[in-house]
Amino acid sequence: MIPQDRIPRHVAIIMDGNGRWARRRGLPRYYGHKVGAESVREVIRTAIDFGIEYLTLYAFSRENWRRPSVEVEMIMSIFRKVLNREVEKLHKEGVKMVFMGRINDLPPDLQKLARDSMELTRNNSKLKLYLAISYGGRTELVDAARKMVSLAIEGKLRPEEIDENSFRKFLYQPELPDPDLLIRTSGELRVSNFLLWQIAYTELYVTETLWPDFRREEFVRALEDYASRERRFGGVKE
Ligand code: FPP
Repeated sequence: MIPQDRIPRHVAIIMDGNGRWARRRGLPRYYGHKVGAESVREVIRTAIDFGIEYLTLYAFSRENWRRPSVEVEMIMSIFRKVLNREVEKLHKEGVKMVFMGRINDLPPDLQKLARDSMELTRNNSKLKLYLAISYGGRTELVDAARKMVSLAIEGKLRPEEIDENSFRKFLYQPELPDPDLLIRTSGELRVSNFLLWQIAYTELYVTETLWPDFRREEFVRALEDYASRERRFGGVKE
């Protein structure tokens, strides 16, 4: 049993290893993504059970557009299928869905699916699920800089008004608290351009488990590990 005050408020996950999972089984990469989508469902349910408030999943980076077009289309078609199948259920369970990133890069029908699911679930508050799609941490910071410069040119923002708190208001989702825990599957020791501003003091957890195998038990293991840590935010131990 993990005491509730040791449960992270916001968990962010870099879902990695779908391709390797498929390769090890001699299957096409598609199956890795397909089974990976089942892990997504199980992780969402587990987050609800543990009373986690915010869950952010790195589903597709801006760099991922550089993959072969057949694979990109495959991933888009999985998003499409999963959204069509799951949104209504997630809504009934009280999940609020937010898409984060350059949503305009997506095929038009997926943009509509994304906007409709945000609209449908916007008043839900059980679990806030942020799906980072066509997301890049540096792009988010560049977009923030652009918005600030535009305001400055209009005379609506002075340099001395910019500090860490006001800067945050220019991020894609200013209401999203910093992640307490960042999980990365499949063993890579990188942050891969994910939430660069937000993870300044985030606890990191890396597991060798590949994303399609990352299910409830593995997630609970990560939560237990987090619960045993002392966070100091750059200060000294109390
Ligand atoms: C990383 O594995 C995974 C992706 C780039 C796509 C993530 C997509 C899903 C999990 C499908 C469903 C998601 C949602 C939100 C419905 P990889 O291809 O980089 O694996 P590799 O590093 O082993 O090649």
